[in-house]
Amino acid sequence: DLIDWTPDMAEKGGYDHFMLKEIHEQPDAVKKTLMELQDIKEMVENFPKFNRICFVACGTSYHASLVGKYLFEGLVGIPTDVLLASEFEFSAGALDEKTLAIFISQSGETADTLRALRMANETAQTLAIVNVLGSTATREADHVIYTRAGPEIGVAATKTYVSQLTCICLLALSMAGEEKLLEDIQHVPDHMKLALEAEDQIREIAKKYKDAEDFFFIGRGYSYPTAMEGALKLKEITYIHGEGYAAGELKHGPLALIDDDVPVVAVVPPGDSHDKTLGNLQEVKARGASVIALGSSDDEVLKSEAHEMIEFSGELNEVLSPIVYVVPLQLLSYHMSVERGIDPDKPKNLAKCVTVE
Ligand code: G6P
Repeated sequence: DLIDWTPDMAEKGGYDHFMLKEIHEQPDAVKKTLMELQDIKEMVENFPKFNRICFVACGTSYHASLVGKYLFEGLVGIPTDVLLASEFEFSAGALDEKTLAIFISQSGETADTLRALRMANETAQTLAIVNVLGSTATREADHVIYTRAGPEIGVAATKTYVSQLTCICLLALSMAGEEKLLEDIQHVPDHMKLALEAEDQIREIAKKYKDAEDFFFIGRGYSYPTAMEGALKLKEITYIHGEGYAAGELKHGPLALIDDDVPVVAVVPPGDSHDKTLGNLQEVKARGASVIALGSSDDEVLKSEAHEMIEFSGELNEVLSPIVYVVPLQLLSYHMSVERGIDPDKPKNLAKCVTVE
């Protein structure tokens, strides 16, 4: 038979699943999103002086927002809160006209996020960072920035996450006047391409750990949201229990759960958080955990401590590392999902867009 492909296969561009295709599209998604810089700079020039930022989102978009907190507090110097959209109503009273409320949503249609947006519109200035053109959030917010990731079919968000991170970085770096980092971020797509090259190694790691029942993901500062997103991807598409934890908080409880059956994924890029996270990694190792570390290819100490080491080459500022370090974690969950016989594009009980509260 000459026709050995279906339209569905053609849409997947030769990949087995949409999720894998979308993971590989990430350098391009970020490159396209970076083209928003000029518009973002113009928007920022016309902003009044805000004295508070409040991010509101759900799921993966919430994790992108958490990175925003470090950027806005660390570089712009504006107190920043991050609220789950479903919890927003309990904090809405604290917003005023000097608050910029930033709504992050791939779809622009998530019911919890829209409800919160409508409440915030009554007092604060609102900004929606959205992937779907013309969606409800883009019509209702005062300001809009589009993530230029293109359509995302896989239920688990991947390329829209890195595009959201890129938008949030562009916004914060523009507000902070961080011109050097705005130059550095242009190289992030190249770093992501290099990160994707670890796929064969990651497939092997996935095979080795696919039967684990619990995982921990740890990180500090800019890497803490990466740990949380790694754990969310794991839960969504492998149905394995994964917990993302602030590395320094492990000793206040979860360390009691660590033994040789619980792999720990440690996100340890070079930078301010490095040495302390390394110390936490040694603590879990001492309790028998297998450690899968993500860090710089120059990091000999980390390599010698980890059971598996996923390496990143080239210099990358810690501030930008979340956009790159999430890539192997997406691949790890993807390959574990496939190894476990699950269709990662259609995880059970989950929907791409949740339109009920
Ligand atoms: C659903 C999807 C997640 C997504 C979340 C928020 O739960 O399965 O992947 O992160 O909704 O969606 P949004 O479109 O608002 O970003």
